[in-house]
Amino acid sequence: MIKEPDTLMLVGFMGAGKTTVGKEIARQHHSRFIDIDSEIERVAGQTIPEIFIERGEIGFRALETQVLASVQTFNGVVATGGGIVERPENIAVLKNSPATIIYLHGNLESTIGRLIIEGQRPLLQEKSTAEFFALWKERDPKYQSVANMTVETVGKTPARIAAEIIALFSANEDELALLALRSQIDAFDRQIFKIIAQRLEVVSSVARYKEKFGLATIQTNRMVRLRNDLKADFALSEDITDDMIDAVMAILMQAAIDKENRQLDR
Ligand code: S3P
Repeated sequence: MIKEPDTLMLVGFMGAGKTTVGKEIARQHHSRFIDIDSEIERVAGQTIPEIFIERGEIGFRALETQVLASVQTFNGVVATGGGIVERPENIAVLKNSPATIIYLHGNLESTIGRLIIEGQRPLLQEKSTAEFFALWKERDPKYQSVANMTVETVGKTPARIAAEIIALFSANEDELALLALRSQIDAFDRQIFKIIAQRLEVVSSVARYKEKFGLATIQTNRMVRLRNDLKADFALSEDITDDMIDAVMAILMQAAIDKENRQLDR
């Protein structure tokens, strides 16, 4: 069982939402929050970009190791920096830590999107997309190795991720494995609905086009062809049956027709 921890530590790649989710857990759970990056800035009296410029990444990492050691028994939630697993000595500290460690796992697309909005990451400025991806792949197993549990974050709001993590505190060992899998399923559900919303946006453009050229809303032949193509493409899948394709496409097409009609009524 992940007992209600004195110290809950969040690890994960930069832009995974460690600070935002950490603050949200502290808010929902009435506990304290500390961010290792902010602590480093406080100790150094400089911002992280300034530390990277003046002391280099090596100087930054030394400060990071020092601060990591000092927060091991912090009573509350600790957000680490994405590079906390860069130094083997930090990995050793994390593996022997009294804290409960949660890996916030995302995907590269959502991470880069977030980082571009936030800015301020020296490593993002200096690395190409390929190097960034390589760093991602290199760090992923390291986060896994230090964490007690991985939570999937893709498509979820910080409040939902925080609630998911708080729910872990009352789970026993067997339930934890199940919760980790459900965390992935919940993320897929959010991605599925996000894609449906994107599909409907395209539908909306199609409706404008049809209106302009006086085409019918429902193109029966195209719909039949679309389903048949899908059935052919998934013919080898045991899980994606013809019935499932018919049922899901019926829902998607009804949503599209409703959207087109709403739009044309305006
Ligand atoms: C870093 C991540 C940053 C910060 C520094 C280095 C990294 O923290 O510590 O820019 O090496 O991934 P966040 O994970 O909070 O962005």
